[in-house]
Amino acid sequence: MTILITNIKELLQVREENVSLIAGKSMKELPSIKDAYLLIENDRIADFGAMENCATQNPDQTIDARGKIVLPTWCDSHSHIVFAGNREQEFVDRINGLSYEEIANRGGGILNSAKILGRTDEDDLFNQSLKRVHEVMKMGTGILEIKSGYGLTLESEVKMLRVIKRIKNTVPIKIKATFLGAHALPLKFKNTKRAYVDHIINDMLPVIFKENLADYIDVFCEKGYFSLEDTERLLVAGKQFGLTPKIHVNQFNAFGGVALAVKYGALSVDHLEELKDDDILALTGSKTIPVALPTCSYFLGIPYTPARQIIDAGLPLALATDYNPGSTPSGNMNFVVSTACIKMKMTPEEAINAATINGAYAMGCSDDYGSISIGKKANLIITKDIPSYNYLPYAFGDNHIEQVIINGQIIN
Ligand code: NIG
Ligand code: FE
Repeated sequence: MTILITNIKELLQVREENVSLIAGKSMKELPSIKDAYLLIENDRIADFGAMENCATQNPDQTIDARGKIVLPTWCDSHSHIVFAGNREQEFVDRINGLSYEEIANRGGGILNSAKILGRTDEDDLFNQSLKRVHEVMKMGTGILEIKSGYGLTLESEVKMLRVIKRIKNTVPIKIKATFLGAHALPLKFKNTKRAYVDHIINDMLPVIFKENLADYIDVFCEKGYFSLEDTERLLVAGKQFGLTPKIHVNQFNAFGGVALAVKYGALSVDHLEELKDDDILALTGSKTIPVALPTCSYFLGIPYTPARQIIDAGLPLALATDYNPGSTPSGNMNFVVSTACIKMKMTPEEAINAATINGAYAMGCSDDYGSISIGKKANLIITKDIPSYNYLPYAFGDNHIEQVIINGQIIN
């Protein structure tokens, strides 16, 4: 099966196959070809270039992209898209003056979601979550990381991870799974946190390993949640079961979690709304990528990750949604890219790099995803007729996507 896309107004994020990550000043560059074509063979990008050099004859299908921009699908490296119910009452409580922390201390927050998930059966959880995955695919997400962490018991964590596996086997987009047993402390362990960490290490990790349910291990390293010591124990144990760390850190407080994550070879450190010079130093020269979640800051009204400081220090940065019922009830990567430009002063080029190739890196998948390169998966967004790519983040409330192609197949 061959699909030829012709007359593309601008083909974005054109890279050599071996580029896996863009850092620092280079993030301001977004290589592109104007008036371009792109050839898909089965599920891969087979060829592309300037329209005048297009030699393909008789493809199975032709898409005329006159006036339209083509770019790789979004790579969303941080989501909690598997959850049950919602938390709109807490949203109203926050409008009326309560803080995220106060709500959590009352037994709301993550524990509230865990309670709902505990009484939701696996099929119901699968159906609720699958619906959201289909929605984000239509909004241009072509690879997605999904975390557990609303189970907080062996049974429910495994239920979540099995649902993630079923989603992976159902949808055409690539899914990566992260085990986040250390998301919050269950009430049962209120005064025995060490025992809960032991439970994760001794009882949950072996089952997850045996059933091959996760690629990564995550910890909410934060005051009132899991300390540096807890985090270290969990990362060490996770690594013994082959899970690479990818952690929640510096959301509300910065106290050394970034350096710890780097020490244990974390693929990414996510949130970083609070950031100290020591954190930048720890990341410099490492393989760990910082991930910002601007729509979480937007929704909670907390500081934005200091993208300028990170990029100007020469580091890479990825952007992701954090889609979850408590702090970011949205999986719209288009809005993430806009918010990064508007609130974090990232240029459109930086934001698009952060949401494509760097997002793919943050899931260990930039060999196959995140750029327009020969041999990579044909995962593409075709926009509507728009004036330029700057228009994508600029006109922030509108849907600019006309078609999404996943593995060489048009999905809408
Ligand atoms: O990434 N910070 C920890 N976890 C989620 C929020 C979870 C929730 O409130 O349900 C986050 O923001
Ligand atoms: Fe998160």
